[in-house]
Amino acid sequence: MAKTIIVSNRLPISLRHRNGKFEFKPSAGGLATGLDSIYKSGENIWIGWPGNTVDDAEQRAEIIIELHDLKMAPVFLTKKDVEQFYEGFSNETLWPAFHYFTQYMVYNPDHWDAYVRVNQKFCEAIIKKADPDDTIWVHDYQLMLLPQMLREILPDATIAFFQHIPFPSYEIIRMIPWRKEILEGVCGADLIGFHTYDDMRHFLSAVSRITGMSGESGYIQAENRIINVDSFPMGIDYNKFAKQAKSRKTQNIVKDFRTKVGEQKLIITIDRLDYSKGIPQRIHVFDQLLKQHKELRGKVSMIMIVVPSRDRVQSYKELKEEIDLLVGRINSEYSTLDWVPVHYFYRSFPFEELSAFYSMADIALVTPLRDGMNLVCKEFVASKTDQTGVLVLSEMAGASKELQDAILVNPNDRQGVVDAIYEALSMPEEEQKERITAMQESLKKYDVFQWVKVFMDRIEHVKGKQAELTSK
Ligand code: G6P
Repeated sequence: MAKTIIVSNRLPISLRHRNGKFEFKPSAGGLATGLDSIYKSGENIWIGWPGNTVDDAEQRAEIIIELHDLKMAPVFLTKKDVEQFYEGFSNETLWPAFHYFTQYMVYNPDHWDAYVRVNQKFCEAIIKKADPDDTIWVHDYQLMLLPQMLREILPDATIAFFQHIPFPSYEIIRMIPWRKEILEGVCGADLIGFHTYDDMRHFLSAVSRITGMSGESGYIQAENRIINVDSFPMGIDYNKFAKQAKSRKTQNIVKDFRTKVGEQKLIITIDRLDYSKGIPQRIHVFDQLLKQHKELRGKVSMIMIVVPSRDRVQSYKELKEEIDLLVGRINSEYSTLDWVPVHYFYRSFPFEELSAFYSMADIALVTPLRDGMNLVCKEFVASKTDQTGVLVLSEMAGASKELQDAILVNPNDRQGVVDAIYEALSMPEEEQKERITAMQESLKKYDVFQWVKVFMDRIEHVKGKQAELTSK
C-alpha cells in the first residue's frame, strides 16, 4: 500500500546536546499537531532536520534508530549547511523577500549553492524511503526545489507542496537571481497550497511571467500534467486550546498571575523574535497610547512574550537590541513602584502558562507587518471560554481574511492602532461576546484537522483529474 511521507525542514522534535549526550524535545507547533495522525499511522513517516548538528557517526546512528521508533527519519545538516542554507539562503534571502523586507535580502551565490545542495540532501533521504507511488507532502520555503528534484526520480509519485509564509508579488520575486529555478522547483508538485487567495494569485502570476507556463483558474499546465494551485487557510487544534483554558491547572495559574499583576487591564502579544512581526512598532503604539490617554497609566499593561529565534542572523540580532532598548525606554519613562507598562519576556512558556495568559488577557494585539497566517490570534480566540476579550489584528496577517470580527488595523498606521486599542478597552461586553462567538464558530469548524483532510482529499482529486486527462 502506498504511504505518505511528510517533509519539512524541521522535524516535529528538536535535538538538544546535554553533557555530551543528546535528548529530543517534542515540538508543540500547530503543524506537528495537525499532521500527528498522518505520520504516525501505518508505514507513514516524517523526514526532516533534527534542529542541531551531530558530527559523531556513532551518535548519528543512534539518533536514526531512536527517531525510527518515533516514525521519523533525520536529514543531518553540517555546520556549513546551517550557515549557508538555513541562516543564509532560507532566512537571509527567501524570508525577507517573501515578507517584503527587501532591504534585508542577501544575494550570495554560495548560499544559493548550499540551498541546492541541501534540497538535494533531502531528496536523497526521501528516495531511500519512498516507493514509486507514495504521496510526498513537502512543507515550506526552505524546500522549494524539492518537488521537482523528486519528480525527476519518482515521476509517478504524488507530490504536494504547501507554503506557510506569504508569497509576494512578481515585482519582489523577480529580484531574486534564481527565481526561475525556484518556481520550476515548486512546479514539480501536483498540488501547491497557500494560506490565502492573494498568495496563490501572486504565485500564479509569477509562474506565468517567469517560467512561461500558463496558469488559469487555479491550474497550471506543465509539459505533461496539470498542477492545481489553491488556498487552504490553516487552522488550530481548537479543542486543545478551549479545553486547556478551562482546566483547573490553567485557572489556578490565572489566579496566581492575577494576584501578581493586580486588577489592571492586560494586553497580550506573543511572537517569535522576527522583524516581520512589527514588535518595535507595537511598543511605539503603546507609548503613544499612554501619552494620549494619561488616564490609562497605571491601569493597563502589555505582556510581551518574544520567543528567541534565528539569533545568529544579523537582522535578528539587531532587532533584539532595538526591542531591549525600546522596552527599557518606555518602562523607565512611565513605571511607578506598583506598575510597569511592559512586562517583557524573552523566552518561551509552557503550554498551560500560555493558556493562562490568553485566558486572562483583555486584548490580544497581533500586528505583524506581514504574516503568512498567524496562529496566535486564533489561539487567543479559542482560549476565551467566557467569550469576553478583543482581538486587534493586522490586515497583513493571512488570518485577517477569516477573522473579520476582530478590530482590523493597518500596522503601519500608528494612530489607527492606538485608536483600535482604545476602542477595544472601551468595548461593551455584549459586543465582545458577539465578535468572539462569531470567530469561535469558524475556528471550530475549520480546525487544523479539517485543514489536513481538505488538503489530502484535494491531492486525490488532482491525481484523478490528471488520470482523466491522460486517458482522453
Ligand atoms: C515559520 C516558518 C516555519 C519555521 C518557523 C520557525 O513559521 O513558516 O517553516 O519552521 O517559522 O522558524 P525556524 O527558523 O526556527 O524553523
